[in-house]
Amino acid sequence: MSLKTLCQMDLHGKRVLTRVDLNVPMIDGKIADATRIEKIIPTISEIIRKGGTPILLAHMGRPNGRRHQNLSLSQLQEELETYFNSKVIFAAECTGPSVETTFEIVKKGEIILLENTRFYPEEEENDPMFSASLAALADLFCNDAFSVSHRAHASTAGVAKYLPACAGKLMEAELKALESVLNQPERPVAALVGGAKISTKIKLLENLIEKVDCIIIGGAMANTFLFSQGFNIGQSLVEESLKQTALKILNKAEKYSCKIILPTDLIVAKELSKNTPTLTVSADKCPENYMILDAGPLTVENIKEEVNSAKTLLWNGPLGAFEVSPFDQATTQAAKFASEKTKNGDLISVAGGGDTLAALNKAGVAEAFTYVSTAGGAFLEWLEGKELPGVGYLINK
Ligand code: 3PG
Ligand code: MG
Repeated sequence: MSLKTLCQMDLHGKRVLTRVDLNVPMIDGKIADATRIEKIIPTISEIIRKGGTPILLAHMGRPNGRRHQNLSLSQLQEELETYFNSKVIFAAECTGPSVETTFEIVKKGEIILLENTRFYPEEEENDPMFSASLAALADLFCNDAFSVSHRAHASTAGVAKYLPACAGKLMEAELKALESVLNQPERPVAALVGGAKISTKIKLLENLIEKVDCIIIGGAMANTFLFSQGFNIGQSLVEESLKQTALKILNKAEKYSCKIILPTDLIVAKELSKNTPTLTVSADKCPENYMILDAGPLTVENIKEEVNSAKTLLWNGPLGAFEVSPFDQATTQAAKFASEKTKNGDLISVAGGGDTLAALNKAGVAEAFTYVSTAGGAFLEWLEGKELPGVGYLINK
């Protein structure tokens, strides 16, 4: 994949409209997790170093086209100055006079921050006039928000019709990591797909079956597969109506010679609560009044064997109810094993989507993975094989 990148652009004296993801969790008006902000520092520094002015364009939350003071990006201004080590000038709009004023006062090395773009209904409507007025603020458009690029919005897609566009450094890293697992991977490739519901991951599984050598299925999703094979699953979370879908997925995997690893043993309990008594049972023997909450030790050994023979691992979702101990065991042990192999240079490990970062952080291994994406929905849609509206125009065709 050949990308139009920030490094190829002449930035000297240019205003660079930069789409970033500032949709960070807030507690009492303070940033609770700054991962997304730390990850855009290289792009902002590069623009400043090359003599450009970054104009940050971002959303927070889902205000549905209306102003909500608690979703104003003004609350990020001070903390952003610390992270970026430069002055951040806030404009209370995305277009119009208050933005023009910031242009009059901004100095070299400083950053402009526009208000939450989702305060405008035109943003999510991908309105051409709104896109054009955003574009009129700048000389170049840089998309560094892979995690919002599954949305066809004015700030992610529309604006690129009116300005020369390039991928920021985080976008570039995300796309390269995804390419290294799906398009040109070192084989064999194993994918670990966990989480609660098959219904949200049907397309993902179908696409992965065609591309990877082995899929390890975990989390409550695996319950539906066990149920489809006629196993008793007691009180476990299950999507009974997807029994046929689960069987179809297994058939497709056979056709493509993609090995499917399902749990062979389970950790079960009467309720999902901390330190509740548990039983370890084989996959076809969940007692009637129990529920499946994690994969068992034999399954973890199977998973380690698969990861051990793989050269590339794609990880999405937890193997059990990892938020509540001891049901984080399978996830933690498998993640630790993958991180050790990665550290030894024997595995390329890429993780992302939904709860994944939280699960790997809990296991204390996120740092050791080759790449951990900050994206949820965008990561999944990419793995489903979709062309993302905020990415297509960045690729040299
Ligand atoms: C996210 O937090 O997943 C991204 O910022 C996208 O947000 P959205 O799901 O509201 O579009
Ligand atoms: Mg989301």
